[in-house]
Amino acid sequence: MVVILRGGLINEFWKFMMQQVTMKFGWISTKPFNDQKPGTSGLRKRVKVFQQENYTLNFIQATLNAMPAPGAKGSTLVVGGDGRYYSKEAVNIIIRVAAGNQLLQTSSASVKPMAGFSSPLLITQEVGPDHDFGIKFNVSNGGPAPESVTNLIYEHSKKIEQVFACEVPEIDLSTIGTQTFGDFTVEIVDSVHDYVILLKEIFDFELIRGFLVKNPDFKLLFDGLHGVTGPYAERIFIEELGLPRSTIQNYVPLPDFGGGHPDPNLTYANSLVERVERENINFGAASDGDGDRNMIYGKGAFVTPSDSVAVIAAHAEVIPYFQKTGVKGLARSMPTSAAIDLVAKKKGLEIFEVPTGWKFFGNLMDAGRLSICGEESFGTGSDHIREKDGIWAVAAWLNIIAATNEKKPGTGIKEILLEHYQTYGRNFFSRYDYEEVNGEDANKMIAHLRHLVDSGKDRFVGKTFGQFTVSSADDFEYRDPIDNSVSKNQGIRIIFTDGSRIVVRLSGTGSQGATIRLYMEKYSRNASEYESDTQEALKPLIDVALEISELRKFTGREKPTVIT
Ligand code: G6P
Repeated sequence: MVVILRGGLINEFWKFMMQQVTMKFGWISTKPFNDQKPGTSGLRKRVKVFQQENYTLNFIQATLNAMPAPGAKGSTLVVGGDGRYYSKEAVNIIIRVAAGNQLLQTSSASVKPMAGFSSPLLITQEVGPDHDFGIKFNVSNGGPAPESVTNLIYEHSKKIEQVFACEVPEIDLSTIGTQTFGDFTVEIVDSVHDYVILLKEIFDFELIRGFLVKNPDFKLLFDGLHGVTGPYAERIFIEELGLPRSTIQNYVPLPDFGGGHPDPNLTYANSLVERVERENINFGAASDGDGDRNMIYGKGAFVTPSDSVAVIAAHAEVIPYFQKTGVKGLARSMPTSAAIDLVAKKKGLEIFEVPTGWKFFGNLMDAGRLSICGEESFGTGSDHIREKDGIWAVAAWLNIIAATNEKKPGTGIKEILLEHYQTYGRNFFSRYDYEEVNGEDANKMIAHLRHLVDSGKDRFVGKTFGQFTVSSADDFEYRDPIDNSVSKNQGIRIIFTDGSRIVVRLSGTGSQGATIRLYMEKYSRNASEYESDTQEALKPLIDVALEISELRKFTGREKPTVIT
């Protein structure tokens, strides 16, 4: 049996049951492409690249070839997609290759988002029809494949000569239920149902419902950005929590996201931000195209993702899941602010700093050392699954607000943030993205920074720029404490004597040119600053980041494309 289903947060998944296989198997001879190296999160290219003859077939075959002994044959494959442009074609190709490689076994797989399948394969896609497409392979723990696996996939992709594929009729993925083609049975299942069951085990829905009943003026707004989380929000906010339909917007998934960009940030989710401010909405939230990222926004209070995960960690004891499991440890990606580190310190928990990429959290979770983690890139999650989870983060905040209001009525997002700063201080954080920069220019800038860092000990360290004096600098290297694998060159870090930080790295998810990410962080223990504007508070540091990196000189760019 091959089970193909949505991997966590996508609105439908597909379960294929092959009871007796009498289909035509065969192989197709092919030639390798040399650019199938997965980045931070799978292989991302323009749609037209994936549409080249055999391109997608090759990558799927290379992925299966990379599976450790006893190989792909007989294993179970889970496929999720968000139904956007080229997803259906890609899913059908995956079915053909899966069948051709005889991934046909397991007979009674239970259907739970992101759990328990031996080789989930996720499809992710960032923007509209003429833009990016991506395929991400997740391993048996449900999490994104580690570098050891993605490197192996790349090696196989460079020497691939044949693809095993089976002729199966094109599957209609839009109808829930069972479809039979000869001996081949396809069952399409509604994954929202299973996800909601899981969510209700994790959070205190009764408490949230009670809070909303007691506070009928507490207004919520969720923006699905026409991605996959609309149907989840509909089920949770309208059916489970009994809120009016006006609580959700852009909740119908569309192949082109309604012409928008399904990124939950201040730029692309600005219609949510505007409505929250204009209509005095207490709780605003958005999730991205495939539902793994989130943004939390209260009136006059944007919650940075770095703060969001720190707040969730600080309040974990009100969440039933953590009451049961305890909080085993916390983690963040390196560029994410150290707000969560302060929570870990206060609570005596282990804290991990991993490179950018959710794949680095999986080992720690599997080893029972990590419960809550997040990234500045709007990813927040826990060990309930091995991916970040946008709806989970929204529910976590609601649970926290409901619980806090039991003791302190009238507490909203802003109050929770300010109280957090009173306890832990505030980590001001901002990221500047320079998209589609010429690759050579970007590399030259990174080389310049590496040179500074290397020459560092005597010449760079101790140097003063504006009000900041360099206390240390390196190119981040991570040794996984579980399997001891080492990931080098994960981003230039420049740390100043007052604890402020600049991080510079190239994105591993862009599909055109290079994207330079500049991250700035400043810590304040001064209560009079807690309500300051982030950009103003960080201005001197941003100036220093531009001075040290010589970004303008190397790239000719005066302004970032996106500021988060
Ligand atoms: C994806 C990954 C995240 C990562 C983000 C940004 O969403 O799942 O783990 O933080 O991309 O990565 P990048 O390499 O572009 O900074």
